Amino acid sequence: MIEYTNDLSRLEGLNLEGFFVGWPNPPSSETLKKILTNSQHVILALDANQLVGFINALSDGVLSSYIPLLEVLPAYQGQGIGKKITQRMLEELKSYYMIDLSCDDQVVPFYEQLGLRKNNSMFLRNYDVQSGKVPTSRGI
Ligand SMILES: CC(C)(COP(=O)(O)OP(=O)(O)OC[C@H]1O[C@@H](n2cnc3c(N)ncnc32)[C@H](O)[C@@H]1OP(=O)(O)O)[C@@H](O)C(=O)NCCC(=O)NCCS
Repeated sequence: MIEYTNDLSRLEGLNLEGFFVGWPNPPSSETLKKILTNSQHVILALDANQLVGFINALSDGVLSSYIPLLEVLPAYQGQGIGKKITQRMLEELKSYYMIDLSCDDQVVPFYEQLGLRKNNSMFLRNYDVQSGKVPTSRGI
């Protein structure tokens, strides 16, 4: 039975292992916890004490929101979890004019069925800090 929540206090004591499959230098589960805690919007999918899926969003609180990460554990994919947490996030973000994300070609149909439209996206990746950067003196 999968449980869905936006309650970040539920992260305490959860197993956060198993995400970022295929990333050469993935964030640790401690870093994932920090990413989720620092995000304005988070939807978690839980199976007992295992985090099995998550989506997060950042925003300026007025016009714009951005979804950086959506992940479902491989063993839990194809069961509707990704669709459910994305729908819940889109509902949370519906007061923003802009809801943006960037994704690989093979995930375009997944997002299209949820109402998102394909557009150009420009990006840079600093692969030397793929696992998460060391906090600066500003603490971010
Ligand atoms: C993409 C991802 C989140 C989908 O999660 P999921 O729980 O497996 O997806 P669901 O079971 O909710 O699928 C919902 C629907 O999308 C379709 N779908 C799922 N993954 C898809 C994909 N990669 N491409 C196209 N359609 C896809 C399913 O067939 C299903 O269709 P249906 O509603 O007609 O049956 C998951 O495959 C994943 O974590 N992938 C690795 C990380 C990733 O690529 N994240 C996206 C970053 S932008």
